Amino acid sequence: MHSGPGVSFYTGPPSSKIASANDDRLLRAAGRSGAVPEEPMAVAQNEAQQAFTARMLERNITPLWTVGKQLVKREPEPRIPSVYWNYQRDVRPFILEAADLITAAEAHRRVLVLNNPALKHGATHTMTCAIQAIKGGEIAPAHRHSQAALRFIIEGEGAYTAVNGERIYMHPGDFIVTPAWTWHDHGKETDGVMIWLDGLDVPLVNHLGATFSDDYDGEGAFPQSRPPHDSFSRYGSGLLPLEPVTQRASPMFAYPYERTRTALENLRKANDWDACHGLKLKFANPATGDWVMPTIATFAQLLPKGFKTAQYRSTEATVVMTAEGRGKATVGDRTYTLGKNDIFVVPNWTWWQLEADDDLVLLSYSDRAVLEKLDLWREQRANEPRR
Ligand SMILES: [Fe+2]
Repeated sequence: MHSGPGVSFYTGPPSSKIASANDDRLLRAAGRSGAVPEEPMAVAQNEAQQAFTARMLERNITPLWTVGKQLVKREPEPRIPSVYWNYQRDVRPFILEAADLITAAEAHRRVLVLNNPALKHGATHTMTCAIQAIKGGEIAPAHRHSQAALRFIIEGEGAYTAVNGERIYMHPGDFIVTPAWTWHDHGKETDGVMIWLDGLDVPLVNHLGATFSDDYDGEGAFPQSRPPHDSFSRYGSGLLPLEPVTQRASPMFAYPYERTRTALENLRKANDWDACHGLKLKFANPATGDWVMPTIATFAQLLPKGFKTAQYRSTEATVVMTAEGRGKATVGDRTYTLGKNDIFVVPNWTWWQLEADDDLVLLSYSDRAVLEKLDLWREQRANEPRR
């Protein structure tokens, strides 16, 4: 299972034909509408059986034998195809143009949503991925919603995210948390543009019918209630306040990149590489050790130059951003060249594999936090027998 950098591994069962057929099926069947593909009936019906089925149709009753395995497959089918955005080519020019075209106040949030071509809205069937920019002197006004949000910071300096009135000044590579139903606004007092990735569980929460949102009535920003970075001071040093933490989401809102990078770099010394992941850590709620948010799992990962992972798949759907370095990602039958801040989607139950041309650092988020709670998370490693 563990091996040193530069070693290549058995690449697993041929999945490209399956993945390719799945991609075509998903795009064709969804027609950008997100419709569920139709499957042939499980049991052929004679005339009397067809008439019987037809009589029940208007009463919204269906014999199970006519749908059969359409409902319960032998294993998961990817819900979406993979998709990739080159940050410099596909994203950055548009977000900079948006910064000139519309103010943050006008737009409420100056956000460009990166959509999976098989979905109306969403990078995966459970998560959104978007790019937000703010300019000097702007405030993106306070609001709150039942969706949880994360930020992976891309470029710029001097902007903050405020969570319930606590400002967190952001730096490239930082992971910032906005737990569900917390008031949050963004602002920038210095010149220049700041850009970051927003990841939210919008499709999941909408699917569950649990969406609420509120705009703050006051003047733009929520009143400052605590000193900047207060939550990091209380929860980020290995010490905790004596009072119990009652909320499920992390009470700490900032995971600075410097600390993430140092942790990964120090672990490199142990040379304890996982064949499928290199070095991969989860961002954790310091009060519980659980995921930072109840619905979104977040990760930081280091692959040393020359490392090629074994193929891997799991039931989670993941959005990945390159924080540093260069490499390649093969997802199903597609291979993406990765540069700084490029973004790609790994659908559920799809083989994927990474290769590092330089030391490669990835930040990612998925629905694993939900799947684990429901006992639905499962993985398969091509370098090990199936469990
Ligand atoms: Fe928001």
